Amino acid sequence: MGLAESPFLQACAGRIPSRTPVWILRQAGRYLPEYRAVRSRFPDFLSFIRTPEACAQVTCQPVDILGVDAAILFSDILTVLPPLGFDLAFREGEGPRISNPLRSGDGRELPLFDPVAELGYVHDAVRACRAALPPRTPLIGFAGAPWTVACYAVDGGGGKEFSRTRAWLHSDPSGFAKVLERIADVTADHLAAQAQAGCQALQIFESWGGIVAPSDYRRVILPSVERLIARLRERTDIPVIFYCNGASTLLGVLDGLPADVMAIDWRMSLSVARAHVGPRPLQGNFDPCLLHAPHDAIRKAVSLAHAQAAGGPWIANLGHGIMPDAPVAGLKALVDAVHALPPVVAEIED
Ligand code: CP3
Repeated sequence: MGLAESPFLQACAGRIPSRTPVWILRQAGRYLPEYRAVRSRFPDFLSFIRTPEACAQVTCQPVDILGVDAAILFSDILTVLPPLGFDLAFREGEGPRISNPLRSGDGRELPLFDPVAELGYVHDAVRACRAALPPRTPLIGFAGAPWTVACYAVDGGGGKEFSRTRAWLHSDPSGFAKVLERIADVTADHLAAQAQAGCQALQIFESWGGIVAPSDYRRVILPSVERLIARLRERTDIPVIFYCNGASTLLGVLDGLPADVMAIDWRMSLSVARAHVGPRPLQGNFDPCLLHAPHDAIRKAVSLAHAQAAGGPWIANLGHGIMPDAPVAGLKALVDAVHALPPVVAEIED
């Protein structure tokens, strides 16, 4: 079997695949002892992702260990920040920290940089992953959506509120929209370079989409996502997956987005999402904490999701990244249950 018959790529193309594909958000990660062994060779996360061979090693792990239908490049959505002039560090147990965040009114203009020159280490990692993966396994490249990246660039680190970023959105929407535009342009070029280096699909992470009002998202943020996808489409025709955490508040807003696949979190059902996207491919949306359930409950959740996704192609996945304490056995049970599903999409059920 080659890449053309990949169930994941068939689903991305809008076809009902030969079997239901599954992969896991943040599938290369701390829940795997094999990941922790490679991670321990590096003093910090940034030196790890700047080493293509190590990226290739951990990118392949979930494919070998779990049998997932696609690999996702091992890198991070915040790699665009240093070439945009930000001083980024990942501190142990603390997550990302930016010592010179962008502030409304500070007059700083973000540079338009060439990702091929500045982020070559990511594209080298793509090439190393592609060479190391089984030829039939597609590789997903990725980047953050402009709003989600701006949340870190403006607030300066982790958290869940991003109140400085939201304040800027309200106090100076047109100035803030220019920041989003600049991030959109470099992100489109970075994604195109990942496609060029050997990815078969690209995912855009809107991890903080759900923290703003739908009207603000539509007015200020959505144009930057449309700009990103339009610029990307000029450079590559591989499928684009748009993942939105908090999609339930935004589905009406996101309905017209020209992404090939819509990916959602677990706070809404796949049947409601299906009613919005029609026959377009859907991805998601198990609660990452489901992996702690007895395996029977995991299998039941898989059949329910399969019924709810009916009406178009479905790529099974979690609704957000897997947690470091996730049991590998629960994850294996989920992947196996998806692969045991009948290939034909069932009738719609609530
Ligand atoms: O298998 C994979 O998906 C690995 C590749 C990957 C990582 N980050 C590696 C990583 C991907 C696709 C991401 C995306 C990412 N990064 C997102 C969007 C997805 C989401 O969860 O909403 C976001 C918001 C980030 C930013 C980021 N990177 C944060 C907030 C943190 C710290 C919190 C955490 O999860 O640890 C990171 C660090 C990070 N990125 C780690 C990994 C494996 C942990 C670092 C370590 O091993 O020490």
